[in-house]
Amino acid sequence: MKIGIIGSGGMAKALAGKWSSKHQVMLSGRDLDKASNVAAEVGASAGTAKEAAAFGEVIVLATRWEDVFSGIDSAGGPEVFQGKVVIDINNPVNFETFLTTRDDKRSLTQAIAGHLPGAHVGKAFNMAQVAVWEDQDMTYDGRQMVTLYTADERADAVIAELIGDVGAEPLRLGGNEYAYQLEAAAAIVIKFLFAGRNPQTILNFIQPEVRDVR
Ligand SMILES: NC(=O)c1ccc[n+]([C@@H]2O[C@H](COP(=O)([O-])OP(=O)(O)OC[C@H]3O[C@@H](n4cnc5c(N)ncnc54)[C@H](OP(=O)(O)O)[C@@H]3O)[C@@H](O)[C@H]2O)c1
Repeated sequence: MKIGIIGSGGMAKALAGKWSSKHQVMLSGRDLDKASNVAAEVGASAGTAKEAAAFGEVIVLATRWEDVFSGIDSAGGPEVFQGKVVIDINNPVNFETFLTTRDDKRSLTQAIAGHLPGAHVGKAFNMAQVAVWEDQDMTYDGRQMVTLYTADERADAVIAELIGDVGAEPLRLGGNEYAYQLEAAAAIVIKFLFAGRNPQTILNFIQPEVRDVR
C-alpha cells in the first residue's frame, strides 16, 4: 500500500516505523528538512503535504487536532482526498479539563468525513500513547493489544490491515457515528497519562483468547 502521512511528529514517526517494512510511506511537514530527517530514521520518504497526499492511497491525518483542517488545506484541499482511505488519529481534547472539545457530541472524525465527501474515513490509533505504538512487540503479559477503531464500510478492511501491521488486533467499534465515544475515551486515557500512569496500562483491551468479537 502507498501511505501518505500529513505530519512527521511523534505519531507519524511511530506508525511509519511500523509500516515501512511492508508498505511505501511518505511523511510530510511544513519544515521539509525536519520531515526528511524523521523519514530517514524510519525507512520512509518525505515530501510536502501536497506530495504526501498525492502519493498515498491511504492518507493519515497526523497533525495536532487543531491543525487537521489546515493540514487538509496544505495537502491541496478536499478534492485531493477523493476515493482515498483517510485515517483520523487525532484527539480533540482540552489538556486542562480533559474533556473532548467537541461540544456538539459530533466527533472530529465525522467533521472530517463531512469535509471530505469523496473519501473513505475512519478513526484509529487514538486510544494509546505514542510510546505504546513504538513498542516493537505489542503483546503485554503474553496477550496481544486490541485496538478499537471506527470506519465507514469502504475504509474498514484497509484500516484493520494497518492496525494488524503495527502488531495490534483490530476491533471495529462501528461506523464513524461511534467515533465521538473513541474521542471521549481517549480523553480518559490522556487524563491518566497526565497523572503519571504508565501508558501501557490505560484502557488497552487485551484479548484473552482468539475469537471473533467484531
Ligand atoms: N502523542 C500521542 O501520544 C498521541 C497518541 C494518539 C493520538 N495522538 C494524536 O495524534 C495527533 C498527532 O500527535 P503527535 O504527538 O504526533 O503531534 P506532533 O508530534 O506535534 O506532530 C504534529 C505534526 O504535524 C505537522 N503539521 C502541523 N501542521 C501541519 C500542516 N498544516 N501541514 C503539514 N504538517 C503539519 C508538524 O510538522 P511541522 O511543524 O514541521 O509542520 C508535526 O510534524 C494529535 O492530534 C494527537 O491528538 C497523539
